[in-house]
Amino acid sequence: MRSVQQDLSGKVAVVTGAGRGLGKAIVDVLAARGAHVVVNDLTLEPAEQAAAEVRTRGESASAVAFDVADPHKVNDAFAKIRTDHGRVDILINNAGIGDFVSFPDISPEKWDRMLDIHLKGSFNCCQAVLAGMKQQGYGKIVNISSVAGKRGDFIGNAHYTAAKAGIIGLTKSLALYAAPFGINVNAVAPGLFATELTDGMSSEMKATTISRIPAGRLGRPEEIGRATAFLVSEDASYIFGETLSVNGGSYMD
Ligand SMILES: NC(=O)c1ccc[n+]([C@@H]2O[C@H](COP(=O)([O-])OP(=O)(O)OC[C@H]3O[C@@H](n4cnc5c(N)ncnc54)[C@H](O)[C@@H]3O)[C@@H](O)[C@H]2O)c1
Repeated sequence: MRSVQQDLSGKVAVVTGAGRGLGKAIVDVLAARGAHVVVNDLTLEPAEQAAAEVRTRGESASAVAFDVADPHKVNDAFAKIRTDHGRVDILINNAGIGDFVSFPDISPEKWDRMLDIHLKGSFNCCQAVLAGMKQQGYGKIVNISSVAGKRGDFIGNAHYTAAKAGIIGLTKSLALYAAPFGINVNAVAPGLFATELTDGMSSEMKATTISRIPAGRLGRPEEIGRATAFLVSEDASYIFGETLSVNGGSYMD
């Protein structure tokens, strides 16, 4: 049973990049706590499938496709979401890509695409919801960073870590700006979770990473779902600009 503080009934949430993986796990927890969840992905099919799964459980979700890196598409999509649902209470910036390359192999194109999706994508969506949240005097934003954004990455995967560190800076600045309007902005920094993103890691790299996790295992996607749901709940009403580590103890700061 959920507490009054955890109840999200009547809230409208948007989760980006949520057709699979951690985003989908976040969708499932928010919907189970009563929110209507708008599931975003690059294409409609995975988003609609995730939303349909939510609806089969008698909960509420719909789907929308857009590329978070495209500010015009983002603005159009959020305008339609507001028309359809009246408001956006919760935004989870989760969309992302992996690219497990070493520093010398990061081309300028790879650098730009990584920063465009993770950092500019999060910025685009934050800007698209902010005016409405200010008007409501209520809003919850969670940006998905990474342990790599706090600690760095062992193979020199600097475009990913720079984007994820940038998300922590974005989170703090926006939290300072938005707090007076009744808006909580925070971040979650996952450690290593078994999703299609981390399928791109070599088995050797994965084994080495797991050997550095005191909890002795990969994270379970629902553990990101619950941590994110905590940050958008009234249990976290006095938390601003925090980046919550969910990493099995693999990095502490
Ligand atoms: N899996 C991990 O161990 C891990 C660790 C730390 C951080 N993260 C972060 O968590 C988030 C989710 O990761 P995941 O493991 O679930 O990845 P995933 O690859 O399983 O899912 C990512 C989803 O984002 C979507 N997406 C990609 N680019 C997009 C765009 N431009 N616009 C909209 N959607 C887009 C993809 O289509 C996909 O459905 C990412 O930001 C990732 O960097 C993951």
